[in-house]
Amino acid sequence: MHRIKNFSLKNNNTFGIDCRAAEFVEYDSVEDLQTLVPELQGKNVLHVGGGSNLLFTKDFDGIVLHSRIKGVDIVEQTADEVLVRVGAAVVWDELVDYAVGQGWSGIENLSLIPGETGAAAVQNIGAYGTEVKDVIEEVEAVSLSTGELRTFSNDECQYAYRRSIFKRELKGQYAVVYVRLRLSKVFNPNTAYGNIRQAMEGRELSAANVRQAIIDIRNAKLPDPKVTGNAGSFFVNPVVTDEQFRQLQADYPNMPYYKVENGYKIPAGWLIEQAGWKGRSMGRAAVHDKQALVIVNLGGADADEIVRLSEAVRADVMEKFGVEIKPEVNFI
Ligand code: EPU
Repeated sequence: MHRIKNFSLKNNNTFGIDCRAAEFVEYDSVEDLQTLVPELQGKNVLHVGGGSNLLFTKDFDGIVLHSRIKGVDIVEQTADEVLVRVGAAVVWDELVDYAVGQGWSGIENLSLIPGETGAAAVQNIGAYGTEVKDVIEEVEAVSLSTGELRTFSNDECQYAYRRSIFKRELKGQYAVVYVRLRLSKVFNPNTAYGNIRQAMEGRELSAANVRQAIIDIRNAKLPDPKVTGNAGSFFVNPVVTDEQFRQLQADYPNMPYYKVENGYKIPAGWLIEQAGWKGRSMGRAAVHDKQALVIVNLGGADADEIVRLSEAVRADVMEKFGVEIKPEVNFI
């Protein structure tokens, strides 16, 4: 266990916001976490992963927890499949790289997503036609009120687009410690999304090449948080009703969309670009010039500047399209 008082969180959030936690505690095992649970009661507690989806708006007057549980272990395997148990603190993209190297497929489309494996399971990360829920078998999590270790089946996680039970009913109540993923030893390419097929032209169809194509696409569009502070998509893509969709489409025949169960999903990046915000800045915060869904810290921005910009963008999208876009980033 590793504990520091009055800790700067600057390196624990990819926006690079400089704020402090009253105490920062990193634990190395399930047992370590369980021994901590009694002292968490009645305190403000925030569990972080790689901090790639957080915006700290002020100092955190409480305990920030971070896992150091690592490891990728094979639980069982057949000729076609492998079930792996992955520590929550394993860096997600290192896992993807390792899996591809082993010849295991299923997560190559999720290449280069920042963050750690535990948070990936909470967030249900998704990109290029794959969501992590597609390969999650079970999630092991510790109750932060009782210390009990509980295993959640995929169904019990109640996964949906950028959603899980850990972000909703059980928000703040459990810490994910291990994630079990079922990966395939047989490569099932998923290249239907957008420009992947095109990016694969001239490359042999393999998981390693799909990974490389996705890395190339992401690098061309998304800012590297190590260089420019950002939290990936700042907003989730809104879903509009069938009626609202028909009206929008009549006004904007070139609007991209995806049919989903409860209506139509419209790319927020498109709405923001059409509202004139792509590449525009306010103070030291800006809408990224290559992907309008991303807000970047131009250097030294405080949370207020980022919030102000995001509010201005939301207001303009609402005024122009009558569509509400909601942040994906968690404001703390
Ligand atoms: N678009 C624009 N202008 C923009 C950005 C996008 O017109 O500035 C249009 C594109 O032309 C395209 C459509 O919007 O027709 C979709 O764009 P893209 O494929 O880039 O995906 P997205 O819907 O903007 C989502 C995820 C990303 C993920 C990509 C690829 C959300 C909130 N975001 O973005 O996830 O990488 O799909 O699958 O669902 C993240 O969550 O941090 C993230 C980057």
